Amino acid sequence: MPQRTFSIIKPDAVRNGYTGAILAEIEKAGFQIISIRKQSISKAQAEGFYYVHKERPFFDSLTTFMSSGPLVLMVLEKDNAIADLRALMGATNPANAEEGTIRKKFAGSIQENAIHGSDGAETAAFEIGYWFAGYELI
Ligand code: CMP
Repeated sequence: MPQRTFSIIKPDAVRNGYTGAILAEIEKAGFQIISIRKQSISKAQAEGFYYVHKERPFFDSLTTFMSSGPLVLMVLEKDNAIADLRALMGATNPANAEEGTIRKKFAGSIQENAIHGSDGAETAAFEIGYWFAGYELI
C-alpha cells in the first residue's frame, strides 16, 4: 500500500548544488513527489519542527543551521516510503553511512547531513502537516 513520508533537502546540500542530484536519487528509487517547495525557514519554525529534540545539546546549533539558508521541503510517496527513504538516506552520521546512500554521497557532518526523513508514521503525519496544507497534497 502506498505510504507517504516527509523529507527535507537541508541547507548544506542546497548550498553545495546537490538539490537536483538528490531529487534524481529519490525518483530513481521509485518515490513519487507529491508536493515540493524551496524556501527559507525562521529559527522559530525550525524549533517547532524539531521540538522533540529541544533538550538535546545540539538543538540550538541544529535550528540555527536549518534556518541558515534555503532548503527544499517534500512529501514523497511509495510502498514502504518511510523505511525505504531512511535506507536510501543512510546513517545520521555520514561517517557511518553505507556506500551508495545519499548521506555517503552528499553529507559533510552529523549535523549538516544533507537530508531529513521522517522516522515513523506518527512523525510523518506531524511533519507533513507542519509544512503542507491539505490542498497541497491532492
Ligand atoms: P535529522 O534526521 O534531521 O534529525 C535530527 C537532526 O539533528 C539530525 O538529522 C542531524 O542533522 C542533527 N543531529 C543529530 N545528532 C546530532 C549530533 N550528535 N550533533 C549534531 N547534530 C545532530
